[in-house]
Amino acid sequence: MKKKLFIARKFPAHIVELLQEFYEISQWDEEEIVIPREKLLAAVADCEVLWVTLADQVDEELLSHAPNLKLVTNLAVGYNNIDVKALKKRGIMATNTPGVLTNTTADLVFGLLLATARRIPESERYLREGKWKSWYPMQLVGKDVSGATIGIIGMGRIGQAVARRAKGFDMKILYNNRRRRHEAEEMYGFQYVSLEDLLKQSDFVVIMTPYNSDTEGLIGARELALMKEDAVLINASRGGIIDEGALYDVLKNGKLWAAGLDVFEQEPIAMDHPLLTLPNVVALPHIGSASLETRTAMLMLNVKALTAYGQGKAISNRID
Ligand code: GLV
Ligand code: GLV
Repeated sequence: MKKKLFIARKFPAHIVELLQEFYEISQWDEEEIVIPREKLLAAVADCEVLWVTLADQVDEELLSHAPNLKLVTNLAVGYNNIDVKALKKRGIMATNTPGVLTNTTADLVFGLLLATARRIPESERYLREGKWKSWYPMQLVGKDVSGATIGIIGMGRIGQAVARRAKGFDMKILYNNRRRRHEAEEMYGFQYVSLEDLLKQSDFVVIMTPYNSDTEGLIGARELALMKEDAVLINASRGGIIDEGALYDVLKNGKLWAAGLDVFEQEPIAMDHPLLTLPNVVALPHIGSASLETRTAMLMLNVKALTAYGQGKAISNRID
């Protein structure tokens, strides 16, 4: 008998098809809309395997509705949406998508660096709004990325990929991480500093650390006050790492040059959110890994885990 798989989103049909051999599949039928909670809770009642996106919370409540659940695959590298402890307690496995999105996400981080520093979205709005009357010396002047100091908080795979790009821009590279990366330090010339020194010395602060109870609210009013007044803050990890109210205050009061944000405390961000009123905020709808190649690779990494489970084989990319 085939195992029961529930997919919490409408994923591309040619990908879902790959699993038909092993699973009896049911699926939420919307591509853009998150499955309502009560529908998800009902759907997991008899499934053995659950495939979710980062918008679905897999927590105690869900598990209490899913007595047969054995495996959860998460279409993301970050897994703050999954209560790993609660899964472990019940002997349920989980997998994510590390590795395949590293370069794509680092590319987007650099896009945000350039967009904020050189005011690219603001300049584009200026042109389209008919404000371009002439060329003049101090028109839309930004700050240089080349040669500046970048401070990377969280030197995992993506952090290191950002650092490699920064090297190409002749940047001085500082980082802070739970543990030191001695080998990478030597190979690439990164410099380990305390979080406080990183915030004080960097022209660009890039958040690449995972979101968990240690990093929730890591960057609040106190930390923002340590940053240079002409510094830029970039976040492509998870919104909850920054206190958005405190960030709004410093941006509004000219105590920070700009912020480039791919992630928010609440996603989607409310259209009346104060941050969206500021010209020096570049806001993106969580597209860090959104290239066709990489989103396909992420789906396929989940398919690989699901296939292995369907065949009774060992599963790679397990979250432990
Ligand atoms: C996206 O944010 C991911 O964690 O893969
Ligand atoms: C993600 O893959 C990371 O380790 O940064």
